[in-house]
Amino acid sequence: MRKTLAEIRSMKAEGKKISMLTAYDSSMARLLSGCEIDILLVGDSLGMVMLGYDSTVPVTMDEMLHHTKAVRRGAPESFIIADMPFGANHTGERDAVKNGIRFLKEAGSDAVKLEGGLEMCGVVRALVQAGVPVMAHIGLTPQTASQLGGYKLQGKGLDDARRLLAEAKGLEEAGAFGLLLECIPDKLAQVITKSMKIPTVGIGAGVHCDGQVLVINDLLGMFDKFTPKFVKKYADLSPLIKESIQQYHTEVKAGTYPGTEHSFSSDADYSSLLRE
Ligand code: KIV
Repeated sequence: MRKTLAEIRSMKAEGKKISMLTAYDSSMARLLSGCEIDILLVGDSLGMVMLGYDSTVPVTMDEMLHHTKAVRRGAPESFIIADMPFGANHTGERDAVKNGIRFLKEAGSDAVKLEGGLEMCGVVRALVQAGVPVMAHIGLTPQTASQLGGYKLQGKGLDDARRLLAEAKGLEEAGAFGLLLECIPDKLAQVITKSMKIPTVGIGAGVHCDGQVLVINDLLGMFDKFTPKFVKKYADLSPLIKESIQQYHTEVKAGTYPGTEHSFSSDADYSSLLRE
């Protein structure tokens, strides 16, 4: 059953952890929804994981909509959040609202997620007022990672931690229904989580968050360009996939695939056709 916003909010109050994973296509979304994952995130990480970009910056609205539609088709019963790609919410509230509404109307998402701190409060407020639920995302924000000095831990010092806490409170006040915390110390995530009524979902933010999210390809061991410290590989599928493909290749070359069990037969004598 698809979770409602109210149910997601009340999970925090009831001390129930939220499970969230990324999904980018219909068949994976179907598997995830069968495992009763609470929230599917069509993350703009798809730019790196699925589309081969070096960062999430080039990802477009059209690409995000395309993948979100596929995920919705695969998981009609799941609560789906779509990532606002870089540029979709940076040119003013009007554009942000227009793009947010496209995710709900055209792609069938239940909410959007956007990166940014206090500078995004106006945009969050405008989206929520327009009826688009927003999960905010602070800490390491990959779309602006170069300004943060790369993909590294945020909020290490007290000043930085104070800024992140102020951002969290500002975004909650602006109407965000949840807050994603990426790559910050676990004790800071604990303080932020305790200070908020809305649930926090962490990635590289320790165990005290109200929920956790991972990139599905990292969890399954299918993305081997790099593995951040916070990733736990629950499977190591890359070698298995490569082995299977290699075996197929060998069998095709040797003429041992397809076997009779993979072929269709008929009683007709087709050899007469050769003489026609
Ligand atoms: O795009 C993404 O996958 C994310 C991760 C932090 C989960 O935002």
